[in-house]
Amino acid sequence: MALKRAFAALALASGLLILPALAEEQEKCGQASYYPSEYTCYDDKTLCPIQFSLATKPCGGGCYSPEQYSCEDGTIKDLPEATSPFSLTFSGVRKTFRDLNVKACGRYLAVGANARECHACTAAGGTNCGSYQNSTVLLPGGQMASDVPGHQFWYIEPSSGILRYTEALAGNSSVWNATIPEKEFAAQNVKVYENGLFTWTREDATTHWWMACLVTLPGGAVGTARSWRIYAPTYVNMERGDCEIGRIVAKAVDRNAGAYKYP
Ligand SMILES: *[C@@H]1O[C@H](CO)[C@@H](O)[C@H](O)[C@H]1NC(C)=O
Ligand SMILES: *[C@@H]1O[C@H](CO)[C@@H](O)[C@H](O)[C@H]1NC(C)=O
Ligand SMILES: *[C@@H]1O[C@H](CO)[C@@H](O)[C@H](O)[C@H]1NC(C)=O
Repeated sequence: MALKRAFAALALASGLLILPALAEEQEKCGQASYYPSEYTCYDDKTLCPIQFSLATKPCGGGCYSPEQYSCEDGTIKDLPEATSPFSLTFSGVRKTFRDLNVKACGRYLAVGANARECHACTAAGGTNCGSYQNSTVLLPGGQMASDVPGHQFWYIEPSSGILRYTEALAGNSSVWNATIPEKEFAAQNVKVYENGLFTWTREDATTHWWMACLVTLPGGAVGTARSWRIYAPTYVNMERGDCEIGRIVAKAVDRNAGAYKYP
């Protein structure tokens, strides 16, 4: 059931199934009529579908997602893989889920009004805490853009599929490698495009979407202090009915936009 809903949402997002939003006025693109919430009209002649509230663009007779491809002389090409530090935004189908900043706190990455962005710094050892901007920044390859001695790593938790990060580790990164037995869930299986999609390769396929699922934070009564944690679309998670499906997009930022430590 939940699975069916998920696929319906996907079909809707890719323009395969067109359900006009209530009370939305149609507009004209050349001779064609369209709903501006579902399509973008280019040069009064080409309609390209909006996917997960992100516009696609025309290229050589088709449409492409600029978060995954570029268009060069009418040919669609893969964007390069990210080499820069990046921050993330989540974009779901619903308007309230557009361009939400992914925030790190308490070893989880979450979105929504109640998601907190946490940072810490100790000036001991001559650290210049004032030089950090404290945004949630990730590095390609699996580290958080923090400067603690043992480093911090982002990963997908194998038992739950939750996207999260480690505390500052006491040792060094080889210690962390040893604690991740299932490589499917390691950062190596997350492909990030430069200023583009954050994708996960499951055992059978690369998924270009994630799920934001509502959780009640510890100590919060139901209905309060709830945020949306990011989940990978494992088969178990796809059965859930309480999640928003969306895409995650990386935006290249400066390394020092990050924090000394993400608590
Ligand atoms: C970032 O946080 C540290 C403390 O963790 C603080 O000293 C510093 O001023 C903050 N930077 C900004 C830009 O707010
Ligand atoms: C990193 O950890 C490994 C395993 O504990 C250890 O053998 C190695 O010497 C450490 N390297 C550094 C640079 O601390
Ligand atoms: C961690 O594992 C990856 C791939 O398995 C490897 O490329 C990398 O060098 C390892 N890092 C360390 C510090 O051992």
